[in-house]
Amino acid sequence: MADDMLAALVRPDKVHKRVYTDPAIFDLEMERIFGQAWIYVGHASQVPKPGDYWTTLIGREPVVMVRDRDGAIRVLYNRCPHKGAKLVADGCGHAGPLFRCPYHAWTFALDGRLRGVPFRQGYADTGFSLDDPQFSMRPVARIAERRGFVFCSLAEDGPGLEEYLGGALASIDNFADRAPEGEVEVAGGVMRVMQHSNWKIFFENLNDTGHPQATHESSFAAARRTVREKLGGKTPFQLHIIEGNGEPNSFWESLELRCYDHGHSYMDAIFNAPTDAISLEYRGQLEAAYGVERAQAILSMNRHNTIIYPSCSPHTGFQQLRVIRPISIDRTLVEIFTFRLKGTSDAFFQRTISYTNIVNSPSSTVMVDDVEVYRRCQEGMASDGGDWISQHRMAGHDTPFEGGLLGAGISEVPMRNQFRAWASYMGEAVA
Ligand code: FES
Ligand SMILES: [Fe+2]
Repeated sequence: MADDMLAALVRPDKVHKRVYTDPAIFDLEMERIFGQAWIYVGHASQVPKPGDYWTTLIGREPVVMVRDRDGAIRVLYNRCPHKGAKLVADGCGHAGPLFRCPYHAWTFALDGRLRGVPFRQGYADTGFSLDDPQFSMRPVARIAERRGFVFCSLAEDGPGLEEYLGGALASIDNFADRAPEGEVEVAGGVMRVMQHSNWKIFFENLNDTGHPQATHESSFAAARRTVREKLGGKTPFQLHIIEGNGEPNSFWESLELRCYDHGHSYMDAIFNAPTDAISLEYRGQLEAAYGVERAQAILSMNRHNTIIYPSCSPHTGFQQLRVIRPISIDRTLVEIFTFRLKGTSDAFFQRTISYTNIVNSPSSTVMVDDVEVYRRCQEGMASDGGDWISQHRMAGHDTPFEGGLLGAGISEVPMRNQFRAWASYMGEAVA
């Protein structure tokens, strides 16, 4: 596809539906976006001991994140150089001191170097050598870690991770700073949702302040009725979270949407942390660790979904990370991880689990509404009813600042910002 054709698909206030429906564009995205950007792979706590591994995808590339014997984390293509078999099964596990291919038992050190080949005599005089890199597992081009969050880029060149993250870096730091011990760990497994829609629809929704009142009406109305009619006006934590989607227009208008280069953004928090006994105990732990002033500074960075384009979204207030894996033009796998803040109680962690169950799990009464409208968008876009997807809300009113764009709470600036990045990845000629 010619770059000038791509350029015609993105306008300052709208995009052509083909960016969500054309498999050829999906193929290009895998190469030009997911083949270049820093992509979240996993958290160091998922591979605590040498030999522990976790598999995932970078675009279409299956990779394995492994803890090496020297303690370093490596990320290798999950591919045996003999016949191409994926060396480890999808998921997590322990390789032992070496990877061993299940097909013909070639073995590899945890940094991917070939260590052994059965029937060695058969390789004599063939030019085959254990030291030849073509017979080793290939490492990804670049790997970088921030507070245990591991990102990789398949491109040799490009900005470093910190420069790439820009203002979104503070969300990752705040995620870990919220632990009294300054460290977090994945806990509680992973929940997976396969969405029948394009990956960009999910990202656009994360900072879409225009949808909660409509899309989530059934859940917040039920929560309010329960509070009023059954609980005498008392709002437990679980219902407080659901109610947040029903705030009036003035609330959404007063929020701030802050966007950064490379497609990242965040929106202000839509509800404050509760002030119950669990929260007070936690605040005490944080103050004991950092002092009152610093603890206050950490807690007052109160961001709702941060978008780290194009691979993940941390929610710092409730220790959740959603990881986005595009599968095809109309299939997107979203993985939801919960984290434990080191130095906090089991009851505090339970609240993290509750938040995720209520808002983002497959059984959530909130997320099903989103997933349904994503599917409807995907199906409607494919129809002959129109060609363009509107991003007009407050278009022309984005305020630039060094490294990004600022918009009022009801603006569609995060979507426009994502397509600013999309266009620059997809081709220089794209405006
Ligand atoms: S495919 Fe891995 S050893 Fe043959
Ligand atoms: Fe939603």
